[in-house]
Amino acid sequence: PPIESVFNLNDFEKIAAKVLPEQVYAYYSSSADDEVSYRENHNSFHKIFFKPKILVDVTNIDLTTEILDSQVDIPFYVSATALCGLGNPKGGELDIVKGCADVNVPHMISTFSSFSIEEIAEAKINENQIQWLQLYVNSDRKITHDLIVKAERLGMKALFVTVDAPSAGNRERDARFKFSAAENNGPKVMEKSKDKDATTNGTSRTLSKLIDTSLTWADIETFKKLTNMPIVLKGVQRVDDAIRAAEIGCRGVVLSNHGGRELDFSRPPLEVLAELMPVLRDRGLNKNFDVLIDGGIRRGTDILKALCLGAKGVGIAAPFLYANSLYGSEGVELCTQLLIKELVLSMRLLGVTKLSDLNADFLDLSGLFAR
Ligand code: FNR
Repeated sequence: PPIESVFNLNDFEKIAAKVLPEQVYAYYSSSADDEVSYRENHNSFHKIFFKPKILVDVTNIDLTTEILDSQVDIPFYVSATALCGLGNPKGGELDIVKGCADVNVPHMISTFSSFSIEEIAEAKINENQIQWLQLYVNSDRKITHDLIVKAERLGMKALFVTVDAPSAGNRERDARFKFSAAENNGPKVMEKSKDKDATTNGTSRTLSKLIDTSLTWADIETFKKLTNMPIVLKGVQRVDDAIRAAEIGCRGVVLSNHGGRELDFSRPPLEVLAELMPVLRDRGLNKNFDVLIDGGIRRGTDILKALCLGAKGVGIAAPFLYANSLYGSEGVELCTQLLIKELVLSMRLLGVTKLSDLNADFLDLSGLFAR
């Protein structure tokens, strides 16, 4: 279908389900067990309603903000997705970089990218394009430490350590297909690995072998000593863990259950956000500590709800991945433009002109915790 048939972010997935090779779509879309967390991530946004203010001059809408010390024109970023080359063999992550250039959408680069991080860094069109490294920690710590040092040298602006995935979750739609790393040219980090030619039940299981199950808080201290990049823990799911991250000097957290791909029945991050922010403020830990959130964000209104609750920004993964698979960098640009259009319109209708004016007073939260 032509790109003109895409009116919103959900359309990318609907088209991808029809046209992507079955195995690729299975890996991209599969979440854990019965996919309850996946659905609840989406549903949680549908449980919050707005209380718009009237008679505000909303002629000029300003979407600028600051995320992890970078000035940005939009409050969202492209979250990490492994193996962008499965859906877009020629362009892979490089097309995402191109598609992010115009608006300078921050791009979190997966450890398990189809292209090397050197190639992805070189693909930047503007020198000031914001790139972050997402880190999966290898049981051979030297591989991981080298990657961190390299990322900083390549100008990456933050290190996102994924902490919700000591093993890949049980993604059964993916597991029904045999995956051969050698045949599917990726991920780049596997080239030197002895598992290179491995054929396993599913892409997720293959990647999982490259993740260390013994990662702990002590490793975070080690990473802090290795790099000046700010460290963000991606996949925090409890208030006490977020507080601990702030106390040990992390620059932020991503409240996330990995899009429901890890532990099924882990809570929707939006609920955790609503609980966390008052505690952080009470303890004075909300300064210099950015709370980000991802999972199921598909609309401008979803983004506004998260920001009203105190998130500094939101991550969006699957829609950008599908957009890139279907239409390359043009798709990535369209995905960004659709979100901007929805954000501007929704802010007008909410009676707000800048992001710093958003707060929980605009929300009816009475349904959020209902099951
Ligand atoms: C992911 N995600 C992910 N996260 C991460 O830290 N490293 C990774 O390599 C990947 N890979 C990956 C592949 C695919 C196909 C998907 C769909 C997701 C998780 C991702 O960054 C994000 O946390 C969730 O997908 C939630 O956001 P969405 O997809 O609901 O917007």
